[in-house]
Amino acid sequence: MSTLLNSSFLRAKYEKLLAEINLHDRLYYREHSPKISDFEYDCIRAEAERIRRLLEIFGENARDIAIGDDRSGGFASFAHLSPMMSLANTYSRGEVLRFSDRLVAALGDQKFSFVVEPKIDGIAINLIYRNGNFSRALTRGNGTVGDDVTGAIGTVKNLPLSIENDADAIEIRGEIYIDGETFEAVNRTREENGLEPFANPRNLAAGTVKTLDTAEIASRNLKIIAYAIGHCSENTVGLQSEALEYLKRLGFPSQEKYWIAGDIDDAWKCVEELGSMRAEFPYWTDGAVLKVNELKFYGTLGATAKSPRWAIAYKFAPERAVTRLMDITLQVGRTGVITPVAELETVQLSGTNVSRATLHNADEIANRDIRIGDFVTVEKAGEIIPAIVAVEMERRPADSKRFIFPETCPACGSKLVRLSGEVAWRCQNSCCLPQIKRRMEHFVSRDAMDIDGFGTSVIEKLMAANKLNSIGDIYRLNFADFDGLENFGEKSTLKILNAIDGSRTRPLWRLLHGLGIFGIGEQTAKVLAKKFPSIGALMAADPATLENLNGIGEKLSASVVSFFREPGNRKIVEDLRALGVNPKKDQRQMHGETAAQFSGKIFAITGTLASMPRQRAIEIIEDFGGHVSDSVSKNTHVLVAGEGGGSKLDRAKNLGVSIWNEEEFLKNSEDARHLA
Ligand code: IVH
Repeated sequence: MSTLLNSSFLRAKYEKLLAEINLHDRLYYREHSPKISDFEYDCIRAEAERIRRLLEIFGENARDIAIGDDRSGGFASFAHLSPMMSLANTYSRGEVLRFSDRLVAALGDQKFSFVVEPKIDGIAINLIYRNGNFSRALTRGNGTVGDDVTGAIGTVKNLPLSIENDADAIEIRGEIYIDGETFEAVNRTREENGLEPFANPRNLAAGTVKTLDTAEIASRNLKIIAYAIGHCSENTVGLQSEALEYLKRLGFPSQEKYWIAGDIDDAWKCVEELGSMRAEFPYWTDGAVLKVNELKFYGTLGATAKSPRWAIAYKFAPERAVTRLMDITLQVGRTGVITPVAELETVQLSGTNVSRATLHNADEIANRDIRIGDFVTVEKAGEIIPAIVAVEMERRPADSKRFIFPETCPACGSKLVRLSGEVAWRCQNSCCLPQIKRRMEHFVSRDAMDIDGFGTSVIEKLMAANKLNSIGDIYRLNFADFDGLENFGEKSTLKILNAIDGSRTRPLWRLLHGLGIFGIGEQTAKVLAKKFPSIGALMAADPATLENLNGIGEKLSASVVSFFREPGNRKIVEDLRALGVNPKKDQRQMHGETAAQFSGKIFAITGTLASMPRQRAIEIIEDFGGHVSDSVSKNTHVLVAGEGGGSKLDRAKNLGVSIWNEEEFLKNSEDARHLA
């Protein structure tokens, strides 16, 4: 009797958990917009698995817990040559030790070792090469059949299109990711345009791969790390560590670091080391993957329905803390979007003081019933902006206050509007001071005109003193305007005036980016600057020419045209031109005389350059027709090595890549124009 009662109760609970898993799978895999964190999701799955085992103990059949399926319709699907499985994952050291015990039990006295690798939080990809040529890229799909995303993956800069492996077919397994910087830039633009931001870089990568607009995909700067060989029609390697080295030799971007460990205690030390250094990786690492190194044991060890028995993922629990929501303030963005911000009682998370978190938009506050005075759980994953993941309802104080979203702009009092299809409320008064300030901040920022020393506080002071009301005013500033300004002496005034002056000759793409044309980020600004010799030529361009540019397309073309049609924007450009800001394209490029030592060559940079920031060196190389890649492979032509170059330098030496020290780079670039 009691067994019956227990099992029917368990079954109901199991079905409820399966329904929850289905819901979250749909939000995660299909809509790229999860409503719970990975940690919460993993906890639900673990609970479902526990109940499934209990049901089995009661002798009951329990249907399998679904494996996520990312196929989304609208894409052709193809079968993988060998299945793409999931990894068993755990947050517990004990589970990792038990994983090792199971291996020892299965392999008896056969010696084996471990490879410990970063677990990259992106989306799994299967690259099929036939006779050495890139032929197709598939998402994991349901593990057997995946969506064909060859077009999107073709935009990945460092993806080798041909490899020195002439097997009929080889599958390279890896992870597609978007770096933190691009993620933040995309979300900033989305919020400024009234769109819902992506919750994390992984969702952005997943959404991007499934986007049909190639211009948009190209602007997202997708990246790849290859970490395994799937099917191969010929024998390649005998160890996973050899596979990682082989993938590097084939020219694939590969793991920043991996470890080989003789036993599980050693492997655990590697996991800990990985945990302490993961913030330095260019991709977000949510854990460590422990794999048996000897591939010959994979067959014997086999797999469960979902995951192989030769590997396990140990995931780092995200850092969380409970704190008090003291207030909700409103920020007016560059395009007038009003973003609510949570003002928190300061709390330590991932080694930083967290006192603010974005609340994204009015709906988010209302739907989640977030109130001022509430205790909230804040999570910070890596470098990503902190987020409120839960409200502690049971601790809600009696005097907590609902937040009433205002109907008028908190800065200028204009009526707020909500445009169709947007979640954000917007102030449409383009003379609203915070908007001008943010447009100015963007214009002078490192990613745009790069005016050194011209930060937010300088802008605020000059605006308060009525010396700065438009972008053109930056170039009207003179010595007297800084007189009496707090913290400005003769030396600092001269320095900032020099920096402003120097920015008049910045490359054209910087000006285009700085103008803040909707949808035109750094990459697309570079595409436009390559095609047009001056801003005047771009303003006169017809939409068809723009549309046909690689990475631009219909939407962005319309955005550029409408920006320059707007009289206020034309006035800004004319104003800047009259003030001597009218950068032309590099003469060498205009005449197609790109320098032979740069043109068409692939560069990498390592270490610190004494004479310029790395971004400037990239510009120089690109101006002269070269490309800059993040890593060194056998396809790299030149490594520019500054002070303290590490693994890239060793790698370049091993691969026989040409190495230029800073002096040689300067000599080759012969370009004093950028060295201000
Ligand atoms: S090996 C049997 N190695 O994690 C699967 N996967 O949770 C073999 N992942 O689908 C995969 N980093 O997308 C492997 N270093 C790594 C990985 C990794 C991230 C992903 C992969 C997989 C998912 C499973």
